Amino acid sequence: MKALICREFGPVDDLALAETTSPNVGAGQVKIRVRACGVNFPDILMVQGLYQLKPPLPFSPGMEVAGEISEVGEGVEGLKVGQRVVSTLMWGGFAEAVVAPAAMPLPIPAAMSFEQAAAIPLAYGTAHVALTHRAGLKPGETLLVLGAAGGVGLAAVELGKLLGARVIAAASTTKKLDLALEYGAADVINYTNESLRDRVKALTDGRGADVVFDPVGGDLFDQALRRIAWEGRYLVIGFASGRIPSAPVNIALLKNASIVGLFWGAYWQNNPAVIRRSFEQLMAYFAAGEIKPHIHKTFPLDDAVAALRELQERRAQGKVVIRMS
Ligand SMILES: NC(=O)c1ccc[n+]([C@@H]2O[C@H](COP(=O)([O-])OP(=O)(O)OC[C@H]3O[C@@H](n4cnc5c(N)ncnc54)[C@H](OP(=O)(O)O)[C@@H]3O)[C@@H](O)[C@H]2O)c1
Repeated sequence: MKALICREFGPVDDLALAETTSPNVGAGQVKIRVRACGVNFPDILMVQGLYQLKPPLPFSPGMEVAGEISEVGEGVEGLKVGQRVVSTLMWGGFAEAVVAPAAMPLPIPAAMSFEQAAAIPLAYGTAHVALTHRAGLKPGETLLVLGAAGGVGLAAVELGKLLGARVIAAASTTKKLDLALEYGAADVINYTNESLRDRVKALTDGRGADVVFDPVGGDLFDQALRRIAWEGRYLVIGFASGRIPSAPVNIALLKNASIVGLFWGAYWQNNPAVIRRSFEQLMAYFAAGEIKPHIHKTFPLDDAVAALRELQERRAQGKVVIRMS
């Protein structure tokens, strides 16, 4: 089978397509014929050796796939050959076939394309669990989303609006902010040429944001934390800017605010029911037409490096997806 291979940790340009042996399915596992694979910022961190998980070399990146089950291992119940599923993985999805523990693939409806399915787990899963389970976002609250047109960011805008919040979307270009408006933002801030801190203050009459969703970190964290409202929740989602910030915790004390971390994938080990419940809710939203993943571009597996560069060079809006032939 064809797969994109990382032989050494380093730049994404060093990744190469190769012919490899298709993985064998073991007891308690299923094999999936991959049709589409979502691209995520953590893929870039992982191939650079900068992610919290460091796979043994060589490996293929790719943390979410959609496709059909092609083999079922011994002892697996409830999944069958030919079933359409989406699955998150630790890595390995940039390949024509993957093997996953039977607990991870989740069935998808016939009306959902493989590209749409591959665009949902990490982006929508992270945004949904963060806003509901971790931050307890309530209708009428103000939600500030940074990096609001990225994969997780745009999902947070759409879900925030759906959950009844007033969403302020912040991003680096007018084009990105226009997309956030289409996905439900009430107000926008262009942090390339406006002060995030001043604009949030003005837009909230000095109150600040009840919930901040931050996949960017760095200097934006420094500004946004100072605009958290009384009893606000600051969601630490990621550090796409490249700098992990440090928090002056006196702000948490003065505002009775919480700094709340989320590592979505860790729920698979620690409390998979959280992911399953969230996924069921997301499927219900999809079926009702209440969420519609924005697919910025699809790339064939042969151009997977270009797909990763689309995120790395900050051009992606919503999700980038790899399509297998
Ligand atoms: N906690 C979790 O469980 C979890 C799960 C998935 C992802 N994440 C994290 O969430 C973040 C976003 O992931 P994603 O897959 O949504 O990525 P993405 O689609 O590439 O979005 C990242 C956004 O960050 C902004 N950004 C600011 N500085 C950047 C830079 N130097 N390089 C690239 N982007 C920059 C960009 O928006 P502007 O151009 O508008 O600034 C971009 O839209 C990553 O840090 C990732 O590790 C965390």
